Amino acid sequence: MSIETLAPVIRVRGVEKTYGDLAVLRGVDLDVAPGSIFALLGSNGAGKTTLVKILATLLRADAGSAEVNGHDVGTDAGDVRESISLTGQFAAVDEVLTGRENLVLVARLRHVPEPGAVADRLLGRFDLVDAGGRKAGTYSGGMRRRLDIAMSLIGDPPVVFLDEPTTGLDPQARIEVWRTVRQLAESGTTVLLTTQYLDEAEHLADRIAILHGGRIVQNGTLDELKKLLPPAQVEYVEKQPTLEEVFLALVGEQVPTAAGKES
Ligand SMILES: Nc1ncnc2c1ncn2[C@@H]1O[C@H](COP(=O)(O)OP(=O)(O)OP(=O)(O)O)[C@@H](O)[C@H]1O
Ligand SMILES: [Mg+2]
Repeated sequence: MSIETLAPVIRVRGVEKTYGDLAVLRGVDLDVAPGSIFALLGSNGAGKTTLVKILATLLRADAGSAEVNGHDVGTDAGDVRESISLTGQFAAVDEVLTGRENLVLVARLRHVPEPGAVADRLLGRFDLVDAGGRKAGTYSGGMRRRLDIAMSLIGDPPVVFLDEPTTGLDPQARIEVWRTVRQLAESGTTVLLTTQYLDEAEHLADRIAILHGGRIVQNGTLDELKKLLPPAQVEYVEKQPTLEEVFLALVGEQVPTAAGKES
């Protein structure tokens, strides 16, 4: 059965939000299928974080409705919170603690049994075993992001929100985060991420929605979105590598392809 035919895990209808005179969301509708990666694309200030905060019950919508994992964000906020994790736009790790201590702390706060074992498993999964004993303040941006995402997965929430998971990361670190996100979806977690990077949506997402002017102006698979433009004129040119391809060839990483996300 195609994932598109399953009941959506995230369902948003007519959501509106205004700050003072500023109408940021003006009737947002979207559905996210279980176990899929959904990318919400938009420029700075488009309202991506605002929508994520509404879905994570940190903000109330002025109008419309939204359900996450079958729970209404307005009336069943507690149930929604038990179903989700949110990795915010700015990393939430405690720099004074080691990576492992950060994980143990969150596991204790969430009353997860055997916090130490949970922490060790996540360090392994996120390739942070060697760094686990070091203060998170000494981590690179990519390591910090991975730790942040690892922290948000404690308790195995079925729905994960990632607000700009790779902003500020170098291409290698971005690829590491992408790999992590793909693994999450492969294990059945539903991922809604926001990004301003077109290539991130292209490499990672099963569906892409473009938020503009307070509404979703397009929503589809990459192929569907590409079909919106007339076919490109056929020209015979030497294909030049992109700067990203050159950079990654020099530093020894494979360039992921959109097709590679299935592998
Ligand atoms: N608490 C607030 N009070 C007033 N205005 C706000 C508040 N939060 C956000 N805004 C405004 O709402 C608009 C949308 O903000 P939001 O953070 O949702 O955008 P975004 O798409 O996440 O942008 P970015 O890509 O920069 O993260 C912006 O113009 C922002 O200045
Ligand atoms: Mg934002």
